[in-house]
Amino acid sequence: MSDSAERPPRRPRYGGKHPRGFEQKYKEHDPARYPDTVAKVIASGKTPAGSHLPILMDECLAALALEKGCIGVDATLGYGGHAARFLEMITPGGKLLGMDVDPIEQPKTVARLRALYPEEEFEAVRSNYAGIARVLGARSLAGVDFVFADLGCSSMQLDDPQRGFSFKTAGPLDMRMNPARGLTAAEWLAKVAAAKLETALREHADEPRAEQLAAALAGQSFATTLALATAVRACAGGLDEEMAELTVRRVFQTVRIAVNEEFTALDGFLRVLPDCLKSGGRAVMLTFHSGEDRRVKQAFQAAERSGIFSSISDGVVTASAEERRLNPRCSSAKLRWAIKA
Ligand SMILES: C[S@@+](CC[C@H](N)C(=O)[O-])C[C@H]1O[C@@H](n2cnc3c(N)ncnc32)[C@H](O)[C@@H]1O
Repeated sequence: MSDSAERPPRRPRYGGKHPRGFEQKYKEHDPARYPDTVAKVIASGKTPAGSHLPILMDECLAALALEKGCIGVDATLGYGGHAARFLEMITPGGKLLGMDVDPIEQPKTVARLRALYPEEEFEAVRSNYAGIARVLGARSLAGVDFVFADLGCSSMQLDDPQRGFSFKTAGPLDMRMNPARGLTAAEWLAKVAAAKLETALREHADEPRAEQLAAALAGQSFATTLALATAVRACAGGLDEEMAELTVRRVFQTVRIAVNEEFTALDGFLRVLPDCLKSGGRAVMLTFHSGEDRRVKQAFQAAERSGIFSSISDGVVTASAEERRLNPRCSSAKLRWAIKA
């Protein structure tokens, strides 16, 4: 046996008391072993590395009205924060299907939930939520009591520099929620035509400088997140620091949505959602920007008008000031619910 095979892998070292890098925060990655460290990070208004704080939890539970024995779907399992609470409410007797496309994070979440719930109560499905009707059909489920979706990417994806989602840390410009599928963000930008990028910047992020940014970025080669962020800042000359930062944020959001074909998936999901619910079944969706919220709002309103939904939320539910203080990532969240007639 080689020397390296005998030794357990060493955790990354860091100098000083306060680790800054994602991988260096080994205590935050292990909440079962270091609960005090994790509690301190959360109390300081940050998300511990390698986890995700579930958003608008009480509001989601109120809208879902879960009971023991309910059968439902969490279409965006993520870290499983929402799923864990749903499982507490519906078991024994109920079942949750947890869908996600992420082959890196989903197995970790499944391992945590599997320690508490057997397959009869919690089943993980690696699938795009656009395929929810097929997933239910394969299990002979004609309609479920609830469907929940918390759109966008998770904090684990966002914070891990190797996933390439964040403009704040250096990493490969990837942004794929499923790295086994499709083009990386770098490949997509290198191929995209300026006109297509301009439309995407407007539709995905309401970007006011879409034309100028598209002309500068389309067809260019950016190997890293920081290279793209630097190019966007160069284009945003004349804007103050805060506005330039918002521009970078909007460009990253645009490219992420394009690379993961998020609107195609969301439109497909919303088309079949009513058929996936039984009469009286509830759908709850969390969105994080106008492109998502507009789609959910229009789909819910159309289904209410045609009598498929008996009622839908009147406007949106947003996070309390206290939740925003504790978790700034919930600031843009909007909750909408619908009940099947
Ligand atoms: C905001 S996170 C969900 C967090 C989760 N509610 C929790 O409490 O941990 C969104 C998750 O949805 C997944 N996702 C995004 N688009 C998806 C799609 N089209 N189909 C299935 N999962 C998707 C992402 O991989 C990510 O894990």
